[in-house]
Amino acid sequence: MLESLDTIKKLALSELQKASDMEALSLWHSTHLGKRSQLIKSLRNLGNMAPKDRPIIGKHANEIRNTLEEAYKERISHLSKVMQSASNKDMSLDVTLPGRPLNRGRLHIATQTLRRIYTIWADMGFQIYRSREVETDELNFELLNIPLHHPARDMWDTFHTNSPGVILRTHTSPGQIHAMRANAPEPIRVILPGMCYRYEQITTRSEIQFNQVEGLAIGTNIRFTDLKGTLSNFARRMFGTSARTRFRASHFPFTEPSAEMDVECFLCSGDGCGVCKNTGWLEILGCGMVHPTVLNNGGYAPSKYTGFAFGMGPERIAMLQYDIDDIRHFWGNDLRFLEQF
Ligand code: PHE
Repeated sequence: MLESLDTIKKLALSELQKASDMEALSLWHSTHLGKRSQLIKSLRNLGNMAPKDRPIIGKHANEIRNTLEEAYKERISHLSKVMQSASNKDMSLDVTLPGRPLNRGRLHIATQTLRRIYTIWADMGFQIYRSREVETDELNFELLNIPLHHPARDMWDTFHTNSPGVILRTHTSPGQIHAMRANAPEPIRVILPGMCYRYEQITTRSEIQFNQVEGLAIGTNIRFTDLKGTLSNFARRMFGTSARTRFRASHFPFTEPSAEMDVECFLCSGDGCGVCKNTGWLEILGCGMVHPTVLNNGGYAPSKYTGFAFGMGPERIAMLQYDIDDIRHFWGNDLRFLEQF
C-alpha cells in the first residue's frame, strides 16, 4: 500500500511538470487531488484497513497530499511568472522610436478667412459688432425697406419658425438696424459677421447656410466714392495689389444707389471660363449707400447723415483664393477637405 502511494506521488509530480498552462494545471489538480483521485479515494478507504495499518498509511497519504498541494502552488506561481515575463517582452518599449505625432486641431477654412477679413477691416477702423441669428421679420425685412409681399422678398427664401414673425436671418443686414439703434446719433464704422440661412436650392455656389460679413459706415459727408475707395482697398489687401475689381449697378431695397463688386476670375484671369460663366469676373459682395428710409429706421436723420453698407460672402472669397470649386465642401465636414487648410 505504501509503495502504491509512492507511485501515485511520483506520477503526479512528473505530470505536474508537464502542465504548462493554467488550464492544464486545473485539470492536473482534479485528476490528482480531486474527489475522484486515487489518493483521496485511498484516504477515504482507510476505514476498511487493518486498524494497525491505518495511522501509518493515513499519515503517509496525508503527507503526500500536502506535498502535492505545495508542489501545485509552486507550479502556479512559477507559471504565472513565466507568463508575465513573456507578456512584458511582447509589450517592451523601444524608447528610441520616434513618438507618434499628435493630431493637432486647426481652424476651419471659413474661420481663417473671417479672421483675415476682420484684420483688414480693423486696419481701416471698423469694429466687430455681433448680432443675432434668429431674427424678426421686422428687422430682417420691414425696417430694411422690404414690406410684406414686396417682390424683393423673392431674393431671400426664408426659414420660418413656429413663432409668427420669427425667422432665421437671411442676411446680416438686420444687424445694420441693431447697430444704428445702439449708436445713433454717433458715427458708425462696424462689420457684422455671422451665419445666415436661406431655404434655397443647394448648388456649387449656394448653400442653405453660409457666413456673411456686413459692413456699415454712417456719418456726415460719406459719399459713394468713399464706398468705392474703401471696398477697392479691401480687395487689394485681400487678393493682392494686382487684383482687379469692378462695380456693377444692382438693386437692393435698403441701399440707393446699389452695386455689386466683382473680382477678376482666379481661374482664367479674365478670359472667361466655366467658373466665372465666361464673364471673367466673380461676384463677391453687394453694396450701396444706405437708403434714407433705413437711416430713419435706425434713428439717423437722412437730411444730415449718410452712409454706405456692404455684405460679402467669406466662403466665396475663400473659394476664390484657394480654387475651391464647390461651396458645399465648407459644411460637409469631410476631413479630406478641411485638413488641406
Ligand atoms: N444683404 C445683401 C444680401 O444678402 C447684401 C448687401 C448688404 C447689399 C449691404 C447691400 C448692402 O444679398
